[in-house]
Amino acid sequence: MGTAVGSWRGATLAWVLVLLVGAGALENGLARTPTMGWLHWERFLCSTDCAREPLSCISEHLFMQMADLMVSDGWKDVGYEYVCIDDCWMSLTRDDQDRLQPDPERFPSGIRKLADYVHSKGLKLGIYGDVGNKTCAGFPGSYGYYDLDAQTFADWGVDLLKFDGCNYGTQDQLAEGYRNMSLALNKTGRSIVYSCEWPLYMRPMQKPNYTEIKHYCNHWRNFADIYDAWNSVKNTLEWTALHQDSIVDVAGPGGWNDPDMLVIGNFGLSWDQQLTQMALWAIMAAPLLMSNDLRHISPQAKWLLQNKDVIAINQDPLGKQGYRITKENNFELWERPLSGGAYAVAVLNRQEIGGPQIFSFSTSFIGNGLACNPACSIQQILPTSEDWGLHNWVSFLNIEVNPTGTVLLKVVVIGETPDEKPVMNINKKLSPDIL
Ligand code: GLA
Repeated sequence: MGTAVGSWRGATLAWVLVLLVGAGALENGLARTPTMGWLHWERFLCSTDCAREPLSCISEHLFMQMADLMVSDGWKDVGYEYVCIDDCWMSLTRDDQDRLQPDPERFPSGIRKLADYVHSKGLKLGIYGDVGNKTCAGFPGSYGYYDLDAQTFADWGVDLLKFDGCNYGTQDQLAEGYRNMSLALNKTGRSIVYSCEWPLYMRPMQKPNYTEIKHYCNHWRNFADIYDAWNSVKNTLEWTALHQDSIVDVAGPGGWNDPDMLVIGNFGLSWDQQLTQMALWAIMAAPLLMSNDLRHISPQAKWLLQNKDVIAINQDPLGKQGYRITKENNFELWERPLSGGAYAVAVLNRQEIGGPQIFSFSTSFIGNGLACNPACSIQQILPTSEDWGLHNWVSFLNIEVNPTGTVLLKVVVIGETPDEKPVMNINKKLSPDIL
């Protein structure tokens, strides 16, 4: 009881502080940089028949295996931390005290034991619930049980909640539900990342109030579910660019726009398209939640997902989301401001016919003319790591990009110092090697 009262007081104090300083991000101290981890949905969906699909059904075994691999195969070392369960983990009924319970055949040890296992590996456990009467796959929803479910998750040692928005009733119930679950999680006193889909379910009827959403959620889905297909990645990027005026500025430490899972390492994307997803998810300061099979992943996909330079851009402490600067013919130029006055720049070739094409642009396009003023060093990060040397504000870059591929650069501004006269690399023609 003492602990519960203590944490309740702590939570109340936190909310008083939030009210005093005004509505910022959800100040639970979490997600200061975009969340990194693994989430089962896109790759494993709602496979519940373990007799038929023992290796891919949604069971404690699957999550334990992924946790093992996250440690043994270097994923944890580069920052992937949360092992997340999506829909279809539950039993179809609550227990005799109305608590959610896992399917007894697929999770015989229970979620508490699974969380202990994941924690013993130095990782964190994510779970899934729904604001409405039922989850999207028809399992029990949290409507009417927000406090009980939040407490159950906290008692189990859960570290992240993905809260879906199927079967929610009215728009008011949707909003109240997302708010109440945030408050309920806070009241437990446990640190639980709160991943929402609130704006996605709101959008068809109402314009989301992102200031409010950020006040309650650590990240939020805006757009349709991602699929293992170029069309899906392309549409997600286009939606984001078209709505950037209303969503980019709201992102920052504690609260992020979530364009959904990384599908790299699966079946549907070409190598260039996988480069595009990784590069643009870094530009968008997106949560990096992979949905793939870590037991069967190519060395190439692993190299890309574990690329420290791309991850450093995604996790940049300034926490500013990037945006599309221009769309010309079939090219798109995106940039993201980074700490120390640096910029990440992505050149995406949207043309789906023909071969590699060259996009030419002046460095004065980047960072409102400031990124290379008076000079800058440019490093190509993807498709391969290459040093492009020094440039200045009149440099012109000719960049060759494969169809549906992306070249990702990091541009670091160099101030003028008396003893350092930069040697410029003007009009460099570049042909990135493909792995
Ligand atoms: C919705 C969500 C998906 C996934 C499924 C599970 O479609 O947007 O990410 O969680 O539900 O049923």
